[in-house]
Amino acid sequence: MRLKPVALAMALGLSSLSAVSAFAGEVEVLHWWTSGGEAKSVAVLKQLLEKEGHTWKDFAVAGGGGDSAMTVLKSRAVSGNPPTAAQIKGPEIQEWGELGFLADLDDVAKANHWDELLPKVVADGMKYDGHYVAVPVNVHRVNWVWGNPEVLKAAGVDHMPTTWDEFFADGDKIKAAGYIPLAHGGQDWQDATIFEAVALSIGGAEFYRKAFVDLDDDALGGDTMVKVLTTYKRLKDYMDPDAPGRDWNLATAMVINGKAAFQIMGDWAKGEFVSAGKVAGKDFLCSAVPGTADAYTYNIDSFAMFHVNSNSQEEAQKALARIIMEPTFQEVFNLNKGSIPVRPDIPRDKFDSCAIKSMDDFTADAKSGTLVPSMAHGMSTTSYVKGAIYDVVTNYFNDANMTAQQAAERLVKAVKAAG
Ligand code: GAL
Repeated sequence: MRLKPVALAMALGLSSLSAVSAFAGEVEVLHWWTSGGEAKSVAVLKQLLEKEGHTWKDFAVAGGGGDSAMTVLKSRAVSGNPPTAAQIKGPEIQEWGELGFLADLDDVAKANHWDELLPKVVADGMKYDGHYVAVPVNVHRVNWVWGNPEVLKAAGVDHMPTTWDEFFADGDKIKAAGYIPLAHGGQDWQDATIFEAVALSIGGAEFYRKAFVDLDDDALGGDTMVKVLTTYKRLKDYMDPDAPGRDWNLATAMVINGKAAFQIMGDWAKGEFVSAGKVAGKDFLCSAVPGTADAYTYNIDSFAMFHVNSNSQEEAQKALARIIMEPTFQEVFNLNKGSIPVRPDIPRDKFDSCAIKSMDDFTADAKSGTLVPSMAHGMSTTSYVKGAIYDVVTNYFNDANMTAQQAAERLVKAVKAAG
């Protein structure tokens, strides 16, 4: 039997774990956290791992939403050289599990009581075939609007919009005052982030689930979806002409710097405000996307662990998994990232009003059945179906000639072909 680091340290008469080098290993971690707030957040994990004597090899692939990271991960895995850990989430964890790439973390999970600490729905998503293969980092809420109070004031708008009619009326005022109403980055995943929010708003949680979880033809191609697509396209009139291709954090910067009034984005955007020294409720405002105050689109980040071939790598990998679930990481990381801890037992006192609202709404919406998985962030379908929806939604958003009816028909066909 191998000696655990603590036992080894004792046997060697060493007092500090970091003095133990026998099992100090390297973990190569693939992630896409490269914006200001994201980089600050992932640095916390690196520090905590290095404190235990392990080495962090950064494998960052830029690109919000992670599609570029996933492409790179696939090519590394296919060539037989996957990293130690990778940011993989939602049903994609199952896809990797099925392919036989993922390592079993049951002993770490058992020793650290993950089953007792995690909400069951979260724990289940981290398991493949009943065994833990991934560890959850956080819970992001996706259906948020971020607002700049100074811009709103200058435009004579004294509220965050709660309905689309209000949003469009406010947008007209903001435009007239010389500001951009809605900061946006025209990339497929950002287009999809807004689209799913409008779908939740107009159709409600049940419709949302039918469309993006059950992939029901009537929901994807029916009258409600046509209404959703129509409202969604109206938002384009409130964006600036430079939106195409823009990174999400540059869109957030437009709200931070007072060029734009709003951004519709998950609460990783809050990580940007916070890293710019801004304070929630004072320098920036958060509210649910119009018409979605009583619903919550969740996006849970997680790291899946790949098979490794040395003891030291395995020790380092397990240390990484353990640290992610520990209170220190859960608190500090989530304060920086804009998300909330995945463990409900972390003290709330350091979290701001947006995070507290997210915590309360998560619980309330879980109870009322209005907690839904984010399609745009890979929580509700396979990566193939997600990609098919992205294509239709982005093409429609950028094609002045495609009608909402045509887009709805394409949605049904594309999802069928991908499923
Ligand atoms: C999401 C991810 C978040 C955030 C965002 C932008 O998919 O879950 O953690 O990083 O992409 O990159």
